[in-house]
Amino acid sequence: MDSKQLPAQSILVLYAHPSPSRSEINVPLFRDAKAQRHVSVIDLYAEYPDFNIDIDKEQQRLLAHDVIVFLFPLYWYSTPSLLKEWQDLVLEYGFAYGDNGTALKGKRFVCALSAGGREEAYQTDGYNHFSLKQLLQPLEQMANVTGMLYLGPFAIFGSRTAREEHRINLHRQKWRRLLQKLADNTLNIVEATHCENLADCPCITGDIL
Ligand SMILES: Cc1cc2nc3c(=O)[nH]c(=O)nc-3n(C[C@H](O)[C@H](O)[C@H](O)COP(=O)(O)O)c2cc1C
Repeated sequence: MDSKQLPAQSILVLYAHPSPSRSEINVPLFRDAKAQRHVSVIDLYAEYPDFNIDIDKEQQRLLAHDVIVFLFPLYWYSTPSLLKEWQDLVLEYGFAYGDNGTALKGKRFVCALSAGGREEAYQTDGYNHFSLKQLLQPLEQMANVTGMLYLGPFAIFGSRTAREEHRINLHRQKWRRLLQKLADNTLNIVEATHCENLADCPCITGDIL
């Protein structure tokens, strides 16, 4: 079957940035996602400034989409706290896991994140001792337990110098391509599940670089 005939996949981007006024990377990615077809973007800190998350609403959002994306700056090797709170409250027993907890089964899951550290710092013998993929294992296992297919991650390293190094447009181009391929269902899933970083994966860069 021609890939163009595959039905469009709906994408939910859950964006979490506690201080967007100082963001150089995530805000442009957030805006790009908003402009993309088949993508719903939720600004969690804008919607829940007091952390009072509407669990039913968030669960309905999950049910209505095929692909779930977390978009965030890496904070202490993890997500910003509201995104953790979102997981703690929304991914309930009986909904996301456990008895009859199959709401997320078969969906795809991607972490899209920026890290201040450079890629070489995220190596066994580097400053952070672990690769980003290793550090994100709690999220990977969350995807496993809830029956989602874990892709990626899509990671931007050295985020604090991306602007002065004129890298932001290339990062945005790859991000838009990822969203487009997820929506069109044309992403090479074998490559996307095994790569260390979708931003460097031929499944994304093949037709850009
Ligand atoms: C509280 C806090 C914790 C951070 N922790 C990390 C970290 O663990 N690893 C890292 O590489 N960068 C870390 N950073 C840097 C952020 O990831 C970086 O500022 C962000 O990716 C920049 O994205 P933005 O321009 O959209 O804000 C941290 C920054 C803050 C403010």
